[in-house]
Amino acid sequence: MTDQTHGVAGGLTNYGDRDFSIYLRRSFAQSMGYSLDMLKRPVVGIAYTPSGFNNCHRHFPEMLEAVKRGVIAAGGLPLEFPTISLGEVFLSPTSLRYRNLMSMDTEEMISAQPMDSVVLMGGCDKTVPAQLMGAVSANKPAIQLIGGPMMTSRHKGERLGACTDCRRFWAQYRAGKIDAEEIQTVEGRLATTAGTCAVMGTASTMACLAEALGMILPGTAAIPAVHADRLRAAEATGIAAVRLIGAPIRPKQIVTKDSVENAMRVLLALGGSTNAIIHLTAIAGRAGVEIDLDRFNALSDETPVLVDLKPTGQHYMEDFHAAGGMGAVLRELRPLLNLDVMTITGETLRQRLDADAESWVDRSVIASREEPLEPVGGLVALFGSLAPRGAILKRSAADKSLFEREGRAVVFSSLADLAARIDDPALDVNADDFMVLQNAGPHSASGMPEAGYLPIPKKLAAAGVKDMVRISDARMSGTAFGTIVLHVTPDAASGGPLALVRNGDRIRLSVRDRRIELLVDEAELSRRRRELGRHQETPRRGYGRLYANQVLDADGGCDFAFLRSEDLPDRGEATE
Ligand code: FES
Ligand code: MG
Repeated sequence: MTDQTHGVAGGLTNYGDRDFSIYLRRSFAQSMGYSLDMLKRPVVGIAYTPSGFNNCHRHFPEMLEAVKRGVIAAGGLPLEFPTISLGEVFLSPTSLRYRNLMSMDTEEMISAQPMDSVVLMGGCDKTVPAQLMGAVSANKPAIQLIGGPMMTSRHKGERLGACTDCRRFWAQYRAGKIDAEEIQTVEGRLATTAGTCAVMGTASTMACLAEALGMILPGTAAIPAVHADRLRAAEATGIAAVRLIGAPIRPKQIVTKDSVENAMRVLLALGGSTNAIIHLTAIAGRAGVEIDLDRFNALSDETPVLVDLKPTGQHYMEDFHAAGGMGAVLRELRPLLNLDVMTITGETLRQRLDADAESWVDRSVIASREEPLEPVGGLVALFGSLAPRGAILKRSAADKSLFEREGRAVVFSSLADLAARIDDPALDVNADDFMVLQNAGPHSASGMPEAGYLPIPKKLAAAGVKDMVRISDARMSGTAFGTIVLHVTPDAASGGPLALVRNGDRIRLSVRDRRIELLVDEAELSRRRRELGRHQETPRRGYGRLYANQVLDADGGCDFAFLRSEDLPDRGEATE
């Protein structure tokens, strides 16, 4: 018997008689009907994530067949394995809470099972970062395959795509402009194909960042889920996964300080989802790379917005793909990028961009650097007495007339309080006020849901108010828009200054100066801090307990303290 170090007999734990261990494992593998010749091939594991609770992944069985075809054609043995799957809209209290669990599942199953490389099949919002986090920590050769976006649909001649248009129609319904029958019709037309949300929301942003990092095949981030090219991308990914075995490149050679900076540039140029900052921080943290929000602001000041996609612009992901996709964006950004970073194909980014230097670009969707949509990046970090460790504003999705303002705080102490009072006709609120939501951050029981998009109070919406300054420690859906300050850090539940805001306080926002200040004197704040008392109870058992004890703030990517790279300093936030 040969002393095989790869294939199904790889990575064996043996108890003294190695040949016996190989014999035993092969015999069980043969029970699956594989020939011995197949079992001697190098193994490509496929982290496979279809789920009845994940509409975005419903085409994964067909993609899996194409990946396997590629692996077999290239001389490997494809063996898929399940990990948990996260369907964005079907998880309570929020999908973010389970991203770290999926990353642990992914890391451990990659590490524990005998595979020589792995294909990560992901798509919906949290699945892409969870798989990248796990793969970086496992650090076996890995390549990701994105599921791809949905196609748009039509309503009364208008294009509809999940889920920016979901919000637009719902706002019309709340304002009494369309009736219950029409909103029900729209409901049936918003999401009509397999794939992820059709706009530059979190899923699409993360797909593009996976390409910017070099973890997926070039040009594959934006191919629609139902397009035949998506299956060809799957086949090619299978082939690439086998090639990776012969010339192993590890995720930690791809996810580096330089490639993470490229990904930040791309995020800014896309006007991408605010959630992507949290995810990128978490992915980078697994590789020992920290994201500094001051550096992020510096990049934002010199990175133009190039992509005209909803929620901030006009078009949809299918248009982005047809317009030239990520290749076009990377070529425009070329002078700003670190070009010597390694990608999954073994080419540097420079070699990749040299290879398709001349491709056609639809300028109505992807602007040139010389004539950008906005001269500066889509996102900025704000600092100040209300957010000592930072907060995020998606300025490309906000109303600029609200950027230099002082306002009166209208405070909601929790999601329940918000739900109970936001539409109360007696609520003391007007359009110039700053609405503040507390206790919706990573340390709250709600687990940092996408609640930062506080609805405009019904009476103001009916009067035509479309945007207001809204501030919270929550996140916002990548498909939402508005003048919304998010991820206030430290969060209220861990005793951050956000917890000390009271109705009627003055808050000053200056996007120009990157400041957000609570205009209350220190003596009064100290008094309130003493009054604040004990935080909420920590769950006594289960994953909730692990989560409460280990979750880091937004500036740690909401990862678990014990999962970050050992090369990073201990942040001292974990309580157990
Ligand atoms: Fe899966 Fe939007 S719900 S990407
Ligand atoms: Mg989303």
